[in-house]
Amino acid sequence: MFPYTALAHPNIAFVKYWGNRDNGLRLPANGSISMNLEGLVTRTTVRFDASLPAERVNINGKIAGNAAHQRVVSLVDEVRLMARINHFAWVESENNFPSGAGIASSAAAFAALALAAAKAARLDLDEAALSRLARHGSGSACRSIPGGFVEWAAGTGDTDSYAVSIASPEYWNLVDCIVVISTDPKPTGSSEGHALAGTSPLQSARVDDAPRRLDICRNAILNRDFAAFAEIVEEDSSLMHAVMMTSHPPLYYWQPATLAVMQAVRAARAKGMPVCYTIDAGSNVHAICTGASVGETAKLLGSITGVREVRLSNVGGPARLVENPTTNPYEI
Ligand code: DP6
Repeated sequence: MFPYTALAHPNIAFVKYWGNRDNGLRLPANGSISMNLEGLVTRTTVRFDASLPAERVNINGKIAGNAAHQRVVSLVDEVRLMARINHFAWVESENNFPSGAGIASSAAAFAALALAAAKAARLDLDEAALSRLARHGSGSACRSIPGGFVEWAAGTGDTDSYAVSIASPEYWNLVDCIVVISTDPKPTGSSEGHALAGTSPLQSARVDDAPRRLDICRNAILNRDFAAFAEIVEEDSSLMHAVMMTSHPPLYYWQPATLAVMQAVRAARAKGMPVCYTIDAGSNVHAICTGASVGETAKLLGSITGVREVRLSNVGGPARLVENPTTNPYEI
């Protein structure tokens, strides 16, 4: 069968997904809002091939390790079941950013895989169905299917838990300044962390309050209101980290430089610079600023002790097929 190649961007959440109602189906405890990151891309090619003796999964030019292989095969199995085919798949995936850079890659990886695998199996899935499929691979991946600013509704079950675009990439010129503090593998991965969220006495308060944060964040984006946006994004990040730190066992992701960046960002905002921060399950900080202030912001962040690198990304588009796939999937 013909190979298909898809591109997808990772995303950064402003109202975060942390904890599942159902870990298997990745039904989130609360809805979330994010923007796609244009500067970072995963490119994945899938071909179902009757002559293959086994599944073949390559990531960044190497044979995938066992855990990654199994996670890819689970999603490919779902596609095979829907398409009623039984050939093994050949999957090649590559990021244009170093995998050890501490930038979450599973969102882009599973969004690109869902689109390429569905196409390669000749399934005709709409955006919602693709978003649901990507969600089964990695929750945040469902937000990398639509473009621009995206909201993932918690939904009532598997069928209505998917992401939609709430504003196009051009709607608001925001930039994510990704402040790389550590490139070490994180001590506890997201999937393991989600499973611990419910052990924090703070998780129920965080989840109950999520509709309020989602409303404020969505309106701030739609009104391009940076002051309101900054306040809710930082509050949401702190709420998630409070849950992490009070889980059993507790999860501490911050390094001293993480806090130094948080303080510098808050001080800069107090002086009138449009910048705020959010932190995922790691020590790196995503400083979000307006396009007009990116030069000044990047300069400030780069000068902080402990910061290894600052990578800039504009708002990205949706997951999409590459029209003329080359035979070499490594040429991004
Ligand atoms: C902190 O989507 O990576 O980045 O569903 O287990 O793959 P899995 O988890 P994942 O969790 C993302 C957690 C987060 C917050 C967010 O992106 O909303």
